[in-house]
Amino acid sequence: MVLEMVGVVGLGTMGAGIAEVFARAGIRVCGVEADEVALARGRAHLERSTGRALDKGKLTAAEREEILARVTLTTSRADLRDADLVIEAIPERMDLKVELFGELDRICKPSTILATNTSSLSVTALAAATGRPGRLVGMHFFNPAPVMGLVEVVGTVVTDPGVVDEVAGLAVRLGKSPVTVGDGAGFVVNRLLLPYLNHAVTLLDHGVAARDDIDHAMKLGVGLPMGPFQLLDLIGLDTAYEIMNVLFDESRSDRHVPSPLLRSYVAAGLLGRKSGRGFYGEAGDGPQDKAPARTVRVVGSPELADRLDTAGFKESDDPDVVLQVGGSLPLSGNTVRVRLSGQVAELAVSVLTTQEAALGAHGLLKIAGYTPVPCKDRAGLVIEALLFSHLNDAVRMYESGYAAIDDIDAAMRLGCGYVTGPFELIESIGLATVRDGLRALHAERLTPSSAPAPLLDQLVTAGLTRFPRP
Ligand code: CAA
Repeated sequence: MVLEMVGVVGLGTMGAGIAEVFARAGIRVCGVEADEVALARGRAHLERSTGRALDKGKLTAAEREEILARVTLTTSRADLRDADLVIEAIPERMDLKVELFGELDRICKPSTILATNTSSLSVTALAAATGRPGRLVGMHFFNPAPVMGLVEVVGTVVTDPGVVDEVAGLAVRLGKSPVTVGDGAGFVVNRLLLPYLNHAVTLLDHGVAARDDIDHAMKLGVGLPMGPFQLLDLIGLDTAYEIMNVLFDESRSDRHVPSPLLRSYVAAGLLGRKSGRGFYGEAGDGPQDKAPARTVRVVGSPELADRLDTAGFKESDDPDVVLQVGGSLPLSGNTVRVRLSGQVAELAVSVLTTQEAALGAHGLLKIAGYTPVPCKDRAGLVIEALLFSHLNDAVRMYESGYAAIDDIDAAMRLGCGYVTGPFELIESIGLATVRDGLRALHAERLTPSSAPAPLLDQLVTAGLTRFPRP
């Protein structure tokens, strides 16, 4: 693909990041914004981002100047007439995008490829609204665009042969890994990521656990790069809510019902980093240290018992708190069920648990070197409830024929910074463990989507420990 110049329309967080990616790859960029104010914001974004790389020693001052010099900024769409590719990253409104592509279709030369960075709208509908449906594709970057390694390249039923491959080749030239996907709502990443984030909001809304505790659980207990609320603030709560609506419209699945709490945040204008406040941003109480219980008995974890012993807590036959690691619902008020995952200790508080025992257990686990995550004693607590449902979605996606296992794993690693993709993760946890965890969740919730994906169930029944790969 001959690529002398690329146009980027819309220089918000994503557009400015995309412009930077092209300029860093040595390609001339023409960035277009609606007015001078928006243009100045886009310019500031580019300067901040490359300045940060300079401060970190990732770019020299001369390289930074060269990158910035490759980017021309304008308010005139007519300046895109010579672009070989134009990618739009304007607000997620169909009417705005249809109008923009209609104009680009008239302005640009016939060979220009038009691309949308939409995360929720139908690429097919956008293509069909232009006079060149065969040359309009999705080119979906991930936030922060200069950092995340994935580009989803979205072809439609009307895309000309070869165009998807050309755009995928271009993504490689940008130093990104392309994954080619069909035009289904949310493509691969958002279709998996957003229901998980929405689920975290539901747990918060239902009082299962607090914001920081859920974030700690998923970051420190699972090893994800960010907690769900930190990530929602990065993505933008309005974007997240919009994607959930699109997913729900397409699937009508109970899994995709947008959380009312998410809707409230959006209605209140608390959109995350872009508005200065989302789930984070208001002055919180900060972490509070809880006094540990004075006497303890540990059931089911010699390691935890040892740690507490080393810290000076002797086992007692008549303890203030019993820490029961594993097992089911405790039968006494001073027993707290504990699940250890990495450095996280989920503390399941049932209707019987006294507040004294809950606080005392919290203090003890902290002293033992864990990050306590107090939560209601519900199936899966926080980690398994969120993670196993998320993994189940990945199996269902593969089972539906929408994407291949390796593509799903690669997309989540490169697009969301996961250390391992969902299928690799299921295999390392154990297919049977995940299936059984899902059965427990389903027994409590009885929602259709919480049942283990039939494929997972079948593989476990057949005694297999890995997913079939070609
Ligand atoms: N712009 C440019 N560079 C940035 C950046 C930004 N906004 N944020 C971080 N970076 C760079 C840093 O400069 C640093 O680069 P070097 O390694 O070259 O020094 C690197 O990223 C790591 O940054 P930090 O050390 O400051 O922070 P970190 O280690 O905590 O990583 C993160 C930050 C890369 C964002 C990481 O937390 C992560 O991978 N998070 C997951 C993000 C994610 O899931 N994104 C996808 C969201 S879904 C989406 O975007 C699609 C949609 O349609 C909604």
